[in-house]
Amino acid sequence: MTIRSIIRATGAYLPKKILTNKDLEGIVDTSDEWITQRSGIKERRIAADDQATSDLAIEAGRQAIENAGIDPSEIDGVIVATTTPDKTFPAVAVKVQAELGIPVGLAFDVQAVCTGFVYALSTADAFIQTAKARRILVIGAEKMSSILNWEDRTTCVLFGDGAGAVILEVDENGQGDLSDRGVLSTHLYANGAQRDLLYTDGGPSTTGDSGHIIMHGREIFKYAVRYMADVVKETLEANDITAADIDWLVPHQANKRIIEATAKKLDLPMDKVVLTVEKHGNTSAASIPLALHEAVADGRIKQGDLLLLEAMGGGLTWGAALVRF
Ligand code: ACO
Repeated sequence: MTIRSIIRATGAYLPKKILTNKDLEGIVDTSDEWITQRSGIKERRIAADDQATSDLAIEAGRQAIENAGIDPSEIDGVIVATTTPDKTFPAVAVKVQAELGIPVGLAFDVQAVCTGFVYALSTADAFIQTAKARRILVIGAEKMSSILNWEDRTTCVLFGDGAGAVILEVDENGQGDLSDRGVLSTHLYANGAQRDLLYTDGGPSTTGDSGHIIMHGREIFKYAVRYMADVVKETLEANDITAADIDWLVPHQANKRIIEATAKKLDLPMDKVVLTVEKHGNTSAASIPLALHEAVADGRIKQGDLLLLEAMGGGLTWGAALVRF
C-alpha cells in the first residue's frame, strides 16, 4: 500500500468581462497582430472593480467541491497560490475557508508567482503524504489586472484574471509504481539571483502599495524555455519515462511560443498540449488549474491519463509535477 494524493475533481472561474486585443489597441500603442504573433494571446478576462481575488477563488473552489460531490465539511485544508491577495493579510485561503463553510483546519497562501500552483500542489501533496491532512482544496487565483501598469504596452497586453481549483485527497490503493493515480513526483526550483528580471515596483514594507509589474521579457523568454525543458527532462528521468509516455502536457500559459518551444524540445506533438493562453492570457498561478479544468471538463483528460504540469515565473521560480489523473 502506498499513500498518494489524487485529484478528485477540478473547478474554475473566469470573470465575465472579455478584453480583446482590439480593445487594447484603444488603450496602448499596440496591435492585435503584434500580440498574437509574439504571445499567441487573443483575449483575456478582467475582473470587475468590486471583484477581489478571493471572489474568483471562492467560485472556482465551490465548483471543484460540487464536481467532487462532497460536502465542504469533508475538507480539512485550503491552500491558495496567489500573487495578488485581497489584502497584505489575512491570507485569501482563510476567506475561502470561511465563505465555503470549510471547517477549522490549515489554511494559507503560497506566493511563487506563475509557479505558485505547482508549489501549492506539491505542498498539499506533502501534507497528505505525512498524514497532516486528508483532503485539501488547492486553488490558483489571480487578479493580475490589479498590478498592471495600463500604460506599459510591454506587460499590460499579456496578463489576465481567473481562478482554478482542485480537490486533492488521500488514496491508499497505490502500488508504489507509475500505475498509481495521484501526484507521482514534484520538482521545485528558484534562483533568487534572477529576481530583478520580473517583479513589482512596490510592496507593503517598501513603497506601501502593491506596485506594478516590471518584466524583462526577452531574458525571461530565454530562461523560460531553458528551465521548463530542464525541469521536464528531470521529471521524466526521475520517473524513468519518456515524453512518449505523457498523455497531456499542462503548462503554465504565459506565451504560446514558449509552450511550443518546450514541446518541440521534448518532441511532444502540440495535440498533446493543453493550450488556453489564446483565451485567458497569462493568469499566473491560476493558469495551470484553469487549463487542467478546461481539458477535464471537455473530456480530453480522462481518469488514468498521465499529466505533466510545468511552470516558470517571477523569482525566478520554476517547477513541474507528474500526476496520474
Ligand atoms: N505592442 C507593440 N509593440 C510592442 C509591444 C506591444 N504590446 N510591446 C513591446 N513592443 C515592441 C518593443 O518596444 C520592441 O520594439 P523595438 O524593437 O523598437 O525596441 C519590439 O516590440 C520587440 O520587443 P521584445 O520585448 O523584444 O519582443 P519579444 O519578441 O521578446 O516579445 C514578450 C515580448 C511577448 C514579452 C516575450 O519576450 C515573452 O513572452 N517573454 C516571456 C514572458 C514570460 O514568460 N513571463 C513569465 C511568467 S510571468 C510571471 O511570472 C508573473
